[in-house]
Amino acid sequence: MLTVRNIHQYYGGSHILRDVSFEARPGEVTVLLGRNGVGKTTLLKSLMGLVPIKSGSIEFDGRPVHGKTPYERARAGMGFVPQGREIFARLTVEENLRMGLAYRSASTPIPPALFELFPVLKQMLHRRGGDLSGGQQQQLAIARALAPGPKLLILDEPTEGIQPSIIKDIGRVIRMLAGRGDMAIVLCEQYYDFAQELADHYLVMERGEVIARGEGKDMEARGVRQLVAI
Ligand SMILES: Nc1ncnc2c1ncn2[C@@H]1O[C@H](COP(=O)(O)OP(=O)(O)OP(=O)(O)O)[C@@H](O)[C@H]1O
Ligand SMILES: [Mg+2]
Repeated sequence: MLTVRNIHQYYGGSHILRDVSFEARPGEVTVLLGRNGVGKTTLLKSLMGLVPIKSGSIEFDGRPVHGKTPYERARAGMGFVPQGREIFARLTVEENLRMGLAYRSASTPIPPALFELFPVLKQMLHRRGGDLSGGQQQQLAIARALAPGPKLLILDEPTEGIQPSIIKDIGRVIRMLAGRGDMAIVLCEQYYDFAQELADHYLVMERGEVIARGEGKDMEARGVRQLVAI
């Protein structure tokens, strides 16, 4: 589904991503771990084309996408839930969800399945995004990314600053989406227990490099908890 090969990325003169390669397969959750500032968000933004890469390749669904705009990547089926959620505070929940459908025709309905995943969004359909709790905003950001039916869902620290009950709900949704088998999920996370619970595969980054990788079931035995402990 997603094949990343030998990516290098710079902010000005700072070499941030160093030869990063990995794959994400449908039906699986690939978890990206690492301490603050190691380049996790930069990697996810590179996947979406929100920051340019200097070299390397990104293949999605059998086609190279590294020359494409973020808009084209979204259209191709890449969905992104940014760190900090970035919902539109002054738009309603419904309008935020419609933003997720922006590249579809205006008559495309909001998929009712989204409200089965996140019932709270139905209750709050006409409330402004900015008036939602942090956890509700996170659910809205995920639903917005899911609205057009992506084949790949990229999530950047969805548990950051969110209460435990909603973290559980979000975990259940991610597991359920992976369980359907047709969507690949790339999840960047610093909350170790959450990451371990969901990971089919893991990658650990340090200073822009992947320093460890393997299967989720081996994370504890391989000492990944210690590798990312602050
Ligand atoms: N727009 C930018 N311009 C210059 N440097 C940046 C920019 N964004 C991030 N950086 C730097 O790149 C490095 C990686 O940042 P990045 O946000 O990718 O890390 P992260 O692993 O996502 O961190 P966190 O866990 O805090 O979210 C950091 O040293 C950061 O200061
Ligand atoms: Mg980040």
